Amino acid sequence: MNILGIDTSCDDTSAALFSENQGILSSVVHSQVSVHHAYGGVVPELASREHLRSIVPAVSMALSQARMELKDIDGIAVTIGPGLIGSLLIGLNYAKSVAYGYGIPFVGVNHLEGHILSIFLEKEAPSFPFVALTVSGGHTSLYHVKGIGEYLLLGQTLDDAAGEAFDKVSKILELGYPGGAAVEKAGLAGNPGLVRFPKAFLSRGSLDFSFSGLKTAVALFVKKWREGAEGTAGITLADIAAAFQEAVVEVLAVKTMEAAARAGVESIVVAGGVACNKALRTRMEEEGRTEGYKVYHPRPSYCTDNAAMIAFAGYHRINRGKTSDLSVDVKSRFPIEDLESFKDGQRVKGTQ
Ligand code: KG4
Ligand code: ZN
Repeated sequence: MNILGIDTSCDDTSAALFSENQGILSSVVHSQVSVHHAYGGVVPELASREHLRSIVPAVSMALSQARMELKDIDGIAVTIGPGLIGSLLIGLNYAKSVAYGYGIPFVGVNHLEGHILSIFLEKEAPSFPFVALTVSGGHTSLYHVKGIGEYLLLGQTLDDAAGEAFDKVSKILELGYPGGAAVEKAGLAGNPGLVRFPKAFLSRGSLDFSFSGLKTAVALFVKKWREGAEGTAGITLADIAAAFQEAVVEVLAVKTMEAAARAGVESIVVAGGVACNKALRTRMEEEGRTEGYKVYHPRPSYCTDNAAMIAFAGYHRINRGKTSDLSVDVKSRFPIEDLESFKDGQRVKGTQ
């Protein structure tokens, strides 16, 4: 079975080919960074216009790299949420048109399920169950993953996502957009111990996150620092970036280990755009070694948004006959608890 995957949830137009026998044959990502760069963030109207321009070329490239044509496709997997409505609509309507025209099945995929399963695009992948931390521009969530299609939400951010905090701090430090990689790079030469930013662990035992207070603390400190206020002498931009990153990484690592302990698993997966961050990867591996968990990360191109993970997630749904019909619509919010589980056709609901 050959599945065409499509993701247009935010600002990347992605298409990929997954083959049941050979795995991922191609994964194309058309980045819109040059379009949004001048605005310091994603402009939704411009994003949908750009998706409209890029969707056909992106799919054509994915097909040609896989040495295939549309007629060789057995099904289409397309992200229907969560994400930007205007952006999602381009991918979904393209998928519906091709599915209808060629008489093949298609399935609407939850973007977060794609991130959780992205580790299975790698040779080295965990067995079930495991705990997954999905940490991106739109989400910071911990799941107990019991099998494909069985996800239990353990905790999530109550305000900003970790990637969003990186992007906002990048703006405050005038490091440009996209912010995560820029803050990481700026912090490389810094000493994370010179400035103390708050680490929000919330109430005792909570597996939820909060990053908006940290972002505000950075903004306030940077204002004082720029004014040359007392106590800021000798502090460099690199020190501030490193201290901010350290605060995020510490909270993510501590809560993920706690989640793994409570779920009683042996493996941890860290996925989503922020999982590209080397400090986070290293810290997770170190903590994992100490606490007795094996930590898995997808390669960076499978951490950031891509259609390969959507093709893989969709393949498992189509293979079980769980296809969508033409009435399916996009969803800006699409909690994973609303996903239909594969287990006995029952939904896995609720927070543990
Ligand atoms: O998964 P993704 O491509 O899109 C969403 O689903 O949101 O994640 C994008 C997010 C952005 O906020 C970006 O700043 C962050 O991932 N990111 C990073 C790094 N690379 C990307 N954050 C920290 N360090 C990085 N190296
Ligand atoms: Zn994403």
